[in-house]
Amino acid sequence: MNVFQKILASHEVSCEGDELAVFPDQVLTQDATGTVVFLQVEAMGIKKAKPDVVSYIDHNTLQVDFRNHDDHRYLQSMAAKLGIKLSRTGNGICHQVHLENFVKPGGILLGSDSHTPTAGGAGMLGMGAGGLDVAVAIAGEPYYIAKPQVLGVELTGCLKPWVTAKDIILYLLKKLTVKGGVGKVIEYFGEGVKTLSVYERATICNMGAEMGATSSLFPSDENTFAYLKSLRREQDWAELKADADAAYDERITIDLTTLEPLIAFPHSPDHVKTVTEAEGTPLGQIAIGSCTNSSYKDMAIVAAILKDKTIAENISLVITPGSRRILSMMSQTGVLQDLVEAGARILEVTCGPCNGIGQAPASGTNSLRTYNRNYRGRSGTADAQVFLASPETAAVSALYGRITDPRKFGECPKVDLPERFAESSNMILSPRGGAGEGEIWKGPNIKPVPLGSPLPPHMDFSAALKVKDHVSTDDILPGGAKMLALRSNIPDSVPYVFSRLDAQFKDKIDRLPEVWALIAGENFGQGSSREHAVMVPMSIGMKLVIAKSFARIYRQNLINYGVVPLTFADFDDYEKISPHDEFHIGEFPQQIQSNRVRIYDKTQDFFFDTRCDFSRRQIELLLQGGLMNYVKHKI
Ligand code: F3S
Repeated sequence: MNVFQKILASHEVSCEGDELAVFPDQVLTQDATGTVVFLQVEAMGIKKAKPDVVSYIDHNTLQVDFRNHDDHRYLQSMAAKLGIKLSRTGNGICHQVHLENFVKPGGILLGSDSHTPTAGGAGMLGMGAGGLDVAVAIAGEPYYIAKPQVLGVELTGCLKPWVTAKDIILYLLKKLTVKGGVGKVIEYFGEGVKTLSVYERATICNMGAEMGATSSLFPSDENTFAYLKSLRREQDWAELKADADAAYDERITIDLTTLEPLIAFPHSPDHVKTVTEAEGTPLGQIAIGSCTNSSYKDMAIVAAILKDKTIAENISLVITPGSRRILSMMSQTGVLQDLVEAGARILEVTCGPCNGIGQAPASGTNSLRTYNRNYRGRSGTADAQVFLASPETAAVSALYGRITDPRKFGECPKVDLPERFAESSNMILSPRGGAGEGEIWKGPNIKPVPLGSPLPPHMDFSAALKVKDHVSTDDILPGGAKMLALRSNIPDSVPYVFSRLDAQFKDKIDRLPEVWALIAGENFGQGSSREHAVMVPMSIGMKLVIAKSFARIYRQNLINYGVVPLTFADFDDYEKISPHDEFHIGEFPQQIQSNRVRIYDKTQDFFFDTRCDFSRRQIELLLQGGLMNYVKHKI
């Protein structure tokens, strides 16, 4: 067996068709997704969390107005109520703090954040999921994943000086692209694994998310033991390695000796070239940190490069250590002083600029970051060009003021890794008396989430909007900082729904019938997996979407919220329907179960057929009005 198979074999996992139903040992949430997760937990009437849950406050800590801090107070009160842990504002980025404090080799972690696979650096199967899936897992229900293939990546040889873990994952991104990991668990094995510390393995697993991988995994070995021991957690170590004759669905071999420093060009993490090819590109900003590269090792190597030097005058160098424990160790070992003396600006231990919260680059300038994503506009500046590279390349470039091959620096400094970190758990609040403690605290920006309604026996409805092909979730509900502040306020998000598709839609909202349908072309709901693009229209009566085809995740989100996705059996019928026609569906539940729904267009007096292809579980969810109702009735 490979490591992935061994982890599944040691857990309660059942196979339902092409899906695996998995019960995670641990769950993590972060504040940007967490408020909605806990509002859903509340709506389902869950009184106590089943798995071990840690709620992190790490994304939006800038507190520019009351709404942000209101969210934090709500999360803290919910943690006490549910009997779960809370990592307080200022304690660090969820994936780094979780790695330090909770990750266990051989376990399963589910998180409402796409970089949850960082845990694979210490041999734990980490998977990122949508907020509702996570809320349901907190209730003790399984998490369903499409059965993944296992891609075995054999590492041979060892990295040359100045070549890093970041270069390994950038190499894979270049080779496999941002779609290359979809439906796969990427498992690393071979002699080269021994040459990498957990810090480095975590960087690699973190950015497996950029390939769309379900998860990434390293074995748990003596390096994992040394890492856990340095954190006073040796009791959590267990050996975990693939059998000598383990099989993989696919295999790739990387000879680490042949790699060189790499860099991702704007605006995609797989737009990778050698640093030599980018050399000389002028920079305005360099940002070091994020859940990808904010470990003590990353901070120490940057400090060793900058020691007794000053950054170039055209550079703003911002650094976010991954956790308070890392920051504390940096202050003990002198790493912090070396960075400050060189001109670095030390920010709070938080996601910050990675999420476009603060430190937006100047208009039209280049920013070099050690982060994992460089999509257009993510930095907060629409016309900024963001490059991604290792901390080593970033530090050397900070001295020259332009992208520079780190090998120019001369000999690569050696850094000492701490054998023992100080105890640091006082910023993680543990439930004192178990679940049920205190009142739930809610500021005015926090509103309940909408619940779907069960499928009626017959349905009369009208179309509220007809749209063309390739409508994205951004078209349905825009993203951006303004909308981020409304994540826990569905009613106030309503005026923005469909605003890009129909500028007048907000004027019609008050006149919409109780239930209505949306008529769409091909690939409806493409783009980001944002669940609000379903929740918000559902809250004002969207009960059906009849489309030529759907983006996969959007279709599943519709079902999760009790909105029925139907596809035209004959695309010509899409043309025949007018935007405000009225319809009737008879014996709706029976028709859904036969996977074919016949609809009568009352306005134009004709019938048309639609297909659904639902699994048994999906039919059950739709009949009950979505996943929250399903769980609510079950518990
Ligand atoms: Fe935070 Fe950026 Fe990671 S937003 S969790 S540091 S991808």
